[in-house]
Amino acid sequence: MGVMGTGKTSVMKALAGRLGWATADGDDLHPPENVAKMRSGEPLTDADRRPWLEAIASWIGERETASEPAIVACSALRRTYRDLLRRGHPSVWFAHLVVPPAVIVSRVERRQGHYMPPALLASQFETLETLEPDEPGIAIPADGPLGEIVNEIVRHVPRSM
Ligand SMILES: Nc1ncnc2c1ncn2[C@@H]1O[C@H](COP(=O)(O)OP(=O)(O)OP(=O)(O)O)[C@@H](O)[C@H]1O
Ligand SMILES: [Mg+2]
Repeated sequence: MGVMGTGKTSVMKALAGRLGWATADGDDLHPPENVAKMRSGEPLTDADRRPWLEAIASWIGERETASEPAIVACSALRRTYRDLLRRGHPSVWFAHLVVPPAVIVSRVERRQGHYMPPALLASQFETLETLEPDEPGIAIPADGPLGEIVNEIVRHVPRSM
């Protein structure tokens, strides 16, 4: 989890390379209406996000049913979104990638061909609710090298997973 440009997709791929787990990128599960909105620079409403989160939750459910360990890249900015992802899915554990805004801006400005304009960053930080004590997971500084971020997640991820 984390705001845009924190490295969710990059970390997911590197982690999957290390652990051999299945992956899904939340970005790929947005309905077309959401993609169009984001392309036009308009922030999504909670009503827009609902079918998207339900699609991700259903993917998680399929992996759980198959007892297949998996990694999902998903911003999951608000507690209610995370609760929706966890509902009925006891194995869910969150890694919040934490990156200073200035680092994100420089990353996003360098990135080409991505549908989320940098102007949305401010609204993402406004929306972000960090993990609460009763939520499973940890916050991880993610402005360093990818390999170190992956090490940190592997070190903390519950052993049963
Ligand atoms: N640890 C890192 N060090 C340096 N650059 C990074 C790191 N992690 C990611 N990046 C770069 O930052 C940019 C954003 O990374 P990425 O696309 O993985 O973020 P994201 O959280 O998936 O973003 P979005 O929410 O927009 O999908 C990419 O260009 C990526 O190569
Ligand atoms: Mg991504």
